[in-house]
Amino acid sequence: MQRIFSGVQPTGNLHLGNYLGAIRNWVRLQDQYECIFCMVDQHAITVWQDPKELTRNTREVAAGMIAAGIDPAKNVLFNQSTVPAHAQLAWVFNCVARMGWLNRMTQFKEKAGKHKENASVGLFAYPNLMSADILIYKATHVPVGEDQKQHLELARDTAQKFNNDYGVDFFPLPEPLIFGAATRVMSLRDGAKKMSKSDESDYSRINMTDDADTIALKVRKAKTDLFPMPHSVEGLEERPEASNLLGIYAALSDRDKTEVIHHFAERQFSEFKAELVDLAVSVLGPINAEMKRLMADPSHIDAVLRQGAERANAIAEPILKDVYDIVGFLRP
Ligand code: TYM
Repeated sequence: MQRIFSGVQPTGNLHLGNYLGAIRNWVRLQDQYECIFCMVDQHAITVWQDPKELTRNTREVAAGMIAAGIDPAKNVLFNQSTVPAHAQLAWVFNCVARMGWLNRMTQFKEKAGKHKENASVGLFAYPNLMSADILIYKATHVPVGEDQKQHLELARDTAQKFNNDYGVDFFPLPEPLIFGAATRVMSLRDGAKKMSKSDESDYSRINMTDDADTIALKVRKAKTDLFPMPHSVEGLEERPEASNLLGIYAALSDRDKTEVIHHFAERQFSEFKAELVDLAVSVLGPINAEMKRLMADPSHIDAVLRQGAERANAIAEPILKDVYDIVGFLRP
């Protein structure tokens, strides 16, 4: 069976982008692949995290995944820092990947902003840890949202360079799996910006913990243009906000975007938004309730993560040992 690895940063609320771009796809893939899903807490601290919040968020993201339908008995679910081999392989990759490759990463440029000298070294080296996350399990497939595509290309380049440098056929070149009607969910306030955990405005995103009233308010306030509902996909790229909301509707209802456009073509935006609220609440409501139930007694989540770490370590340790042998590290 082919192996999947994917991860989420426990840096705040899971939002609709994480759900539609990633987690929902993971739920669908769990029957076809051996899956390893990770709360990447070591990635999270590349920018400052309050320690108590980080612990809480790690549990909450795990709760979100389980509530969304990821079966912890079938899949490996754990937090990154409990499997030391990720950081150990990342060091080897720090010595394989080139500065020039990392300099091209758009996410670093966005996150570091104007003052690159003040960014942590970890933020710059972040993609190497991500390559290690995937390759320490020799994962063949990585389901992610579109924003992670460039990092995955780097993971493939690093795997290839390692194989070439050492004259081995050791690491697979992992394939991105990017699919669904919402691979890049945009902010509800600005159709040119990605929906993200770090946006200052909570109105920019729908969180998986939002209740029905909050979802209704956020969708009602979501930015739209002054034109009527579109009749076709043509020209939709010039209407990013409308396109985004239609994409969200299509993804939530498991329908094709074109079909959704036709369905709403002769109607008002307000009607469309009201139906979008009902749909979002019907999908997210039960997940939200289950998350709350799981978070009320974290001992179950902790047990899941403990067991996940054991299973993950059992896969990762022999692979790290092989890497060390290939590199020539003496282990007397
Ligand atoms: P993160 O925590 O930012 O996001 C987790 C997953 O959600 C997807 N996603 C989105 N999809 C669609 N629209 C959006 N607005 C949106 N925002 C986020 C992301 O693409 C991702 O799939 N670097 C990764 C975490 C990571 C990882 C890995 C992923 C660390 N190691 C190894 C895959 C494999 C990140 O920051 O994701």
